[in-house]
Formats: sequence, structure tokens, C-alpha cells
Amino acid sequence: MKHDIQLMVNGDSYSLAIDPSRTLNQVLREDLNLTGTKLGCGSGDCGACTVIVDGRSVSSCLTLAVEVDGKEILTVEGLAPSGEKLHPIQEAFIEKGAIQCGFCTPGMELSAYHLLSQNPTPSEQEIREGLSGNLCRCTGYNKIVEAISVSADRMNRKPSKRKSR
Ligand code: FES
Ligand code: FES
Repeated sequence: MKHDIQLMVNGDSYSLAIDPSRTLNQVLREDLNLTGTKLGCGSGDCGACTVIVDGRSVSSCLTLAVEVDGKEILTVEGLAPSGEKLHPIQEAFIEKGAIQCGFCTPGMELSAYHLLSQNPTPSEQEIREGLSGNLCRCTGYNKIVEAISVSADRMNRKPSKRKSR
């Protein structure tokens, strides 16, 4: 029997009738066509499926869609503030060469977003810990860590005050 659920995804509201065994990852990718959220291991080990649910970072492959009924979900498609402008984390990933095949990137960026929302000035060690649930087979991680550090600096930078004459 199908269950009716309501999801708020990237600011848009969806009413869906779904089989209770379907994961959030399946619903995002197959029903809402939000394929930026990847499916890697399917068992909670790789972080490719990471999304933010009510401010918490979750593995969408291990989360049933019915469990997030009524909640707010952020996927990589909702990270950029507009169609013209990327999020500072995304800009820094591109600039620092932190993307190769790109499969891990949406999950990495959402883990970074979650980390910086909890800790706006993380040390290198804290960034590495914040990414410990996300695997990357391509980059060796250093460029990803550097990109997150740069984006944290930029997000914290206050506009400089003009000197009064
Ligand atoms: S696909 Fe969910 S953790 Fe790997
Ligand atoms: S860029 Fe290929 S898995 Fe990370």
C-alpha cells in the first residue's frame, strides 16, 4: 500500500504517494529527477548519496522516504543561490581542482556545507574529520580539503569598512 508524504526539497514542496520501502535516494533520483544526489555503495559507506535533512547530514541510501515526511531537504541542486551563481563551496571546488570524475562531488559539497554550518572556521584536521564519511577515488583528498578551507575563509570574510574622511 502506498503512503502519502510531503517533502520540501530545495524550497519546493512535493506531495507523493510512495511505496514505504523506497529510499529517499530513490525518490529524489527517480521520482523528482534530482540526479545530482548519487548512489554509490548503497550501504552507508561512501557518502555519495549525502543530503541535508532539517540541517542534519544523512545518507539518502539508508533513509526511507517515509521517515522524512514533512521535512526540509537540501540536495546539491539547491546549493547554489541562483542559476547564475554557484555556492562559494562549489566555486572553490572548481578553482582548486577538487573535482575529477565528479561522482563524489555532490556528497562532498553537502558534507562541507554541513560542516561549515556547524563550524565556520574548521582546522584542516576538522575538515578531514568532517569528510570522513565521504570517499573519493580520484583526488587524494588534499584539493578537496584545500577547497573547503578556502571557501570557509571567503564565507567568513566580512566586507571591509570604508575609511571615513
Ligand atoms: S550510496 Fe549511500 S553511503 Fe554510499
Ligand atoms: S572526483 Fe572522482 S570520486 Fe571524487
